[in-house]
Amino acid sequence: MRSIPFFFTGAILAPLVSGLGFTESDVSLADRDIATFEDVAFGDAVLAKLSPRNTGAGSSPRCKAFPTDNAWPSEQKWSKLNESVGGALLKPLPAAAVCYGNSPAFNAAACNFLLTNASSTTFYLDDPLTILSQWAQGNTCPAARNTTGSTCTQGGFPVYVVNATSVKQVQAAVNFARNNNVRLVIKNTGHDSVGRNAGGGSLSVWTHYLKGFEFLPQYTQPGGNYRGPAARVGSGLQVFEAFANAEKYNVTLTAASCLTIGSYGGWITGGGHSPLASKFGLGVDQVLSLQVVTADGRLVTADPRTNEDLFFALRGGGGSTYGIITSAIVKSHPQINLTIASFTFTLGSTASTTPGPAVTITNSTAFWKGFDAVFAYGIPTVDAGGYLWTNGINLGAGSFTMQTRAQMPGLTPAQATTFIQPLLTTLNALGIPVTIDTPSTVVYSSQRGPLGAAPGNSRFASRIFPRAAYQNATLFAATMAAARATVEAGYVFHGLNMAPTYKAGGFSAPAGVNPVWRTAVMHADVFDSFNIGTATPAEATAAHVRLDALMGPLRVATPGGGAYLNEADVQEPDWQHSFYGSNYEKLVRIKRARDPWGVFWAPATPGSESWAVQTPNEIPSQNGRLCRV
Ligand SMILES: Cc1cc2nc3c(=O)[nH]c(=O)nc-3n(C[C@H](O)[C@H](O)[C@H](O)COP(=O)(O)OP(=O)(O)OC[C@H]3O[C@@H](n4cnc5c(N)ncnc54)[C@H](O)[C@@H]3O)c2cc1C
Ligand SMILES: *[C@@H]1O[C@H](CO)[C@@H](O)[C@H](O)[C@H]1NC(C)=O
Ligand SMILES: *[C@@H]1O[C@H](CO)[C@@H](O)[C@H](O)[C@H]1NC(C)=O
Ligand SMILES: *[C@@H]1O[C@H](CO)[C@@H](O)[C@H](O)[C@H]1NC(C)=O
Ligand SMILES: *[C@@H]1O[C@H](CO)[C@@H](O)[C@H](O)[C@H]1NC(C)=O
Ligand SMILES: *[C@@H]1O[C@H](CO)[C@@H](O)[C@H](O)[C@H]1NC(C)=O
Ligand SMILES: *[C@@H]1O[C@H](CO)[C@@H](O)[C@H](O)[C@H]1NC(C)=O
Ligand SMILES: *[C@@H]1O[C@H](CO)[C@@H](O)[C@H](O)[C@H]1NC(C)=O
Ligand SMILES: *[C@@H]1O[C@H](CO)[C@@H](O)[C@H](O)[C@H]1NC(C)=O
Repeated sequence: MRSIPFFFTGAILAPLVSGLGFTESDVSLADRDIATFEDVAFGDAVLAKLSPRNTGAGSSPRCKAFPTDNAWPSEQKWSKLNESVGGALLKPLPAAAVCYGNSPAFNAAACNFLLTNASSTTFYLDDPLTILSQWAQGNTCPAARNTTGSTCTQGGFPVYVVNATSVKQVQAAVNFARNNNVRLVIKNTGHDSVGRNAGGGSLSVWTHYLKGFEFLPQYTQPGGNYRGPAARVGSGLQVFEAFANAEKYNVTLTAASCLTIGSYGGWITGGGHSPLASKFGLGVDQVLSLQVVTADGRLVTADPRTNEDLFFALRGGGGSTYGIITSAIVKSHPQINLTIASFTFTLGSTASTTPGPAVTITNSTAFWKGFDAVFAYGIPTVDAGGYLWTNGINLGAGSFTMQTRAQMPGLTPAQATTFIQPLLTTLNALGIPVTIDTPSTVVYSSQRGPLGAAPGNSRFASRIFPRAAYQNATLFAATMAAARATVEAGYVFHGLNMAPTYKAGGFSAPAGVNPVWRTAVMHADVFDSFNIGTATPAEATAAHVRLDALMGPLRVATPGGGAYLNEADVQEPDWQHSFYGSNYEKLVRIKRARDPWGVFWAPATPGSESWAVQTPNEIPSQNGRLCRV
């Protein structure tokens, strides 16, 4: 039997088997643990800054070690790391390896499950490697029925994964990667759309099972202005799990709309919007305190009093950059209902009938005037604390549809009906005879639903719309013309009107999130249906050029705007300021001070320009070796 490192014995075993037990002091990596395996020794950022290329394993070569290199750690070293993490080290093959006749994992029944049923289950979300944006991995092992003649390779997937359930395992992984010049990545649920959750030739810290939860009825934020109910959450908790806990305590924990997202990994480090954004602010505004494993391997607290630089950067300054959050303390709000009034109107086709009552018209002028009128109603919606969800969709053959959901937290159905009436009156006067049914209402935390997910293979871009531009008649007209152009060109224009102001966010401590959010009245995605999986790299590049060309007029019409880094084009022009605004330079300084080694790296995050992935083609994937530039 393998030897059990002594820090995994005795009393500290309980938190490990029950998930993150919030007793970090008991389960932290101690100096005595390192005595038996020096590869997991802590780093010293101060020394490293003095001589960044002469610390850690002795030197920092131009590239991270790759499995084909002599510098790649030996099997024995990986096996010792496995002991240090209590046997939680995985060396997984891509999930779809079961579809490849020339793979040792080939299994026709398992492949059939992937192709028929996996997307309606949590299979992919519980897989240690899978990310939901397949092109970002390099698309080197797609699930397919006939893979004759093709080979499944690891591509942009990590080589090893630590399936973490304790702080100590996270620390051991960070130290091992830093000391061996191995690329480190962090994956939580895999929702990131540009590959910030993957990396070729890497060790991955998989935070999915850091699932702790504790309700704190009376919490006082150290050095901050919050005093009241809060919750302590493991960073692997998904939205549906956070909601279930919140419902149990009859409170509200603000979280993303998609129930399978990780609320306390990518969502809070990227910004985090929700249907409650106009009422309670962004994800970053929910955070009161963080427990973080930094690049030196140490576990630290970050709050307005301690490590304020990390507290700033980790709230909106990008995931996978400054450290690995193991748990967070977040605000708990009183229970609130989410009330939704929905309708759809369609030009020239009866095909699309959701959500809500649907009407079909034949007057194109009326349709596009109605399209503008719905977006104009974004202002009253956000001013009433709401979140206006819309989709403009091209149905083909000259048909278009506009799907609308006014999500109004805290209103009763009767109040929501009254609220939406002026918009319906405007649309009716244009010749669009829309009506609504009685708005639905649910306790926000009671939302549940199917938890399925499967990788997709397309790209998109986005924009944040400042109020000053949106309320300027000239610029609004230009914005609507640009939005219409995306729909006419076959893209989906997905609007989310919200106003996550400082006031809504509760005047929380300064945050690294792009300040443009504070004056925003909409964030919108422009989704491309172009399938990168079946295209040549040149065709994929041409598709990106077409998408970016359509974004140009939207950017011009929204001076002072930006883009939401979590729903974004990784090739966004001047992504530094588009994603992080005026905070960018400060975030880079924090990154350099906290991680002089470059332990953490992910595309389009602060300081990431110093490195690049050497990809086999022009698609900006994680399939390749990470090198300094
Ligand atoms: C279908 C869908 C719907 C979405 N809806 C919304 C929405 O309603 N609102 C919204 O704001 N966003 C939404 N998003 C975007 C989503 O919030 C981001 O993709 C987010 O980054 C996901 O975080 P994750 O931790 O679940 O995913 P991952 O992809 O696993 O991680 C995302 C990033 O965070 C890093 N990270 C994860 N955990 C940690 C940690 N503990 N410490 C440090 N870094 C970490 C990862 O390395 C990666 O860079 C949606 C995305 C999808 C695909
Ligand atoms: C790590 O150890 C566990 C338990 O002994 C074992 O099941 C697992 O296969 C090991 N991982 C690797 C990558 O060898
Ligand atoms: C897929 O699900 C259907 C029911 O939805 C079931 O009948 C079928 O057996 C499942 N197939 C596999 C391969 O699991
Ligand atoms: C599978 O793919 C190969 C190579 O693309 C092709 O020659 C063959 O006809 C395909 N078989 C089936 C059953 O589709
Ligand atoms: C990861 O760890 C969790 C918690 O111990 C366990 O339930 C799960 O099966 C593990 N996953 C893999 C792929 O080993
Ligand atoms: C839940 O909280 C709401 C809002 O604070 C309150 O009105 C309601 O009475 C509470 N319900 C229970 C069962 O405590
Ligand atoms: C089409 O709708 C516009 C806007 O409501 C209206 O001015 C115009 O008269 C309509 N045209 C027809 C033919 O009904
Ligand atoms: C909140 O929603 C529930 C149904 O989920 C409903 O019973 C309740 O009346 C609603 N509360 C308000 C204030 O509308
Ligand atoms: C609207 O924007 C345009 C273009 O930026 C600007 O010239 C004009 O002064 C603005 N109008 C108002 C009323 O602010």
